[in-house]
Amino acid sequence: MCGIVGYVGPRQSQDILLAGLARLEYRGYDSAGIAVIDGDGALHSAKKAGKLARLREELDARPIGTGTTGIGHTRWATHGGPTDLNAHPHLADDDRLAVIHNGIIENFSELKAELVAEGHGFRSQTDTEVAAVLLGREYRAAGGDLVAAFRAVARRLEGAFTLLAMHEDHPGLVVGARRNSPLVIGLGEGENFLGSDVAAFVEHTRKALAIGQDQIVAITPDGVTVTDFDGNDVETSPFEVMWDASAAEKGGWSSFMAKEVSEEPEAVANTIRGRVHEGRVVIPELDGLDDLFADISRIVILGAGTAAYAGLVGKYAIEQWARIPVEVELAHEFRYRDPLVGPDTLVISISQSGETMDTLMAVKEAARLGARTLSICNTQGATIPRESDAIVYTHAGPEVAVASTKAFVAQITALYLFALHVARVRGTMGADDQAAQIEELSALPDKIRWVLDNEQERIEQLAHWMADTRSVLFLGRHVGYPIALEGALKLKELSYIHAEGFAAGELKHGPIALIEPGQPVFVVVPSPRGAQVLHSKVVSNIEEIRARGARVIAIAEAGDAAVLPSADEVLRIPLAAPLFEPILAVVPLHVFAMGLAEAKGLDVDQPRNLAKSVTVE
Ligand code: F6R
Repeated sequence: MCGIVGYVGPRQSQDILLAGLARLEYRGYDSAGIAVIDGDGALHSAKKAGKLARLREELDARPIGTGTTGIGHTRWATHGGPTDLNAHPHLADDDRLAVIHNGIIENFSELKAELVAEGHGFRSQTDTEVAAVLLGREYRAAGGDLVAAFRAVARRLEGAFTLLAMHEDHPGLVVGARRNSPLVIGLGEGENFLGSDVAAFVEHTRKALAIGQDQIVAITPDGVTVTDFDGNDVETSPFEVMWDASAAEKGGWSSFMAKEVSEEPEAVANTIRGRVHEGRVVIPELDGLDDLFADISRIVILGAGTAAYAGLVGKYAIEQWARIPVEVELAHEFRYRDPLVGPDTLVISISQSGETMDTLMAVKEAARLGARTLSICNTQGATIPRESDAIVYTHAGPEVAVASTKAFVAQITALYLFALHVARVRGTMGADDQAAQIEELSALPDKIRWVLDNEQERIEQLAHWMADTRSVLFLGRHVGYPIALEGALKLKELSYIHAEGFAAGELKHGPIALIEPGQPVFVVVPSPRGAQVLHSKVVSNIEEIRARGARVIAIAEAGDAAVLPSADEVLRIPLAAPLFEPILAVVPLHVFAMGLAEAKGLDVDQPRNLAKSVTVE
């Protein structure tokens, strides 16, 4: 949450900062601001509540100069409402020093009291301004050494933070600090960048450096130094960004979400690529790491929101193929319940951003308890993979729309691959069976494309007709259950309509009371060729709700004739083996949620109150 960008070099920083913020706006859009140090050595800043467009208008009306050193921020409000005054940057030391921040400074009240007692004044209600004023004080104490002052501040702060600062005494220097919050360095020629993620600078350079926890970075046009909070040099890990700037552009689509849903086939295909050899799944990143899962007795999968639903699908595949018991838990619930995990447990975290604070803290707790940790992640250089023993990247490409779509299908794909890899290593699956599953897996991209090509228009029309709906329910069984949860989550976050997902078997235990004439219910119908018993149970569930007046929209295999008489609408998906159906059944639900939000005239890329990368607990 909150996007951060920094630049030093020969070019005017304003446009670079604004372009970086535009790419980071998915991280928060309550306000935006920048500060630059001008050629005459003066610090200028501008900030505005609302989306980045408001800041652009402000800068057009009141330009702030041609400085070549600058920092920029896009905010998701935590302390203090989304006002101009609470927007970042925050200034201190007679407005000669600017600070931006992502995270929450947990001890800000006591620090503020200390500073107020010393006679310092505050203009905002934010925790960030406390860091700025503290930095001003430490700067003077350190005799004008900005990096030393920054270290002193970082040591005093508790909580999670990425901070960037610059001072007009030091044109050509931006300093950054991080603890449990993201910060990546972009290495240019005669210029350097800082960003919450590589999207901030990928149009200028694809060379990047990931830095670790509790570290301080100082960038100048010619160099980068990284130390810990005590000033000791530390090692950094350079990497090449795997995608280019055009991958994070809309490229003619009406929204990032429309583009990202259309990329679901590629997200699956790219995640499989390079991991299937001669009828076997071999994940190169897990090479030599067989110990990690050879003698484990259970797996715990952690994630939040959509990522956790991907985990629920993964549970079925891992248990069926690799025969290891799997529990799936919301990361924030796991973290604070004194969980029973140890060296016999493999904890798999799932995160598109790799920065979700709830998931990060849960992974750290699991590692502290001795569990082995594996991260399934879509973002290079992110914190969660860095904190894990092993990584399996999803290759969905950058996901910019706040609500996750293509990353979800890529996460499920990675879990299938993991399950097949472990099944091979542990010998729980015969070669023929493995080859058959791989064939099914490899066919998924074309089948998703079939859904988009053949059903998208009809689903969008349905969404249009349902634009005034006030509540929608989603039902599924077995692997269809997480898909019902995902369908409901996507609909509520994009269209602000009340939506709930239920296990179809749970219906009679309460939720059926919600059914009244006309209530729309999406039902994910399992294949009649798979577990016949599941199919007939779901068809019975459909009858039960239809008898009470529900309007049923079934998502069913093309050719499933049994469902036709019972449903008001049938959205078709191609035939697939039962475990692979979720990846197809979710596509109509993504299209529907997006279509309904569009029909209501809502911003599908930036739904209200949300941010993509949730870096606060
Ligand atoms: C929903 C959505 C969220 C994320 C969740 C975890 O559409 O996008 O529920 O899935 O915040 O985010 P990551 O995967 O970045 O850890």
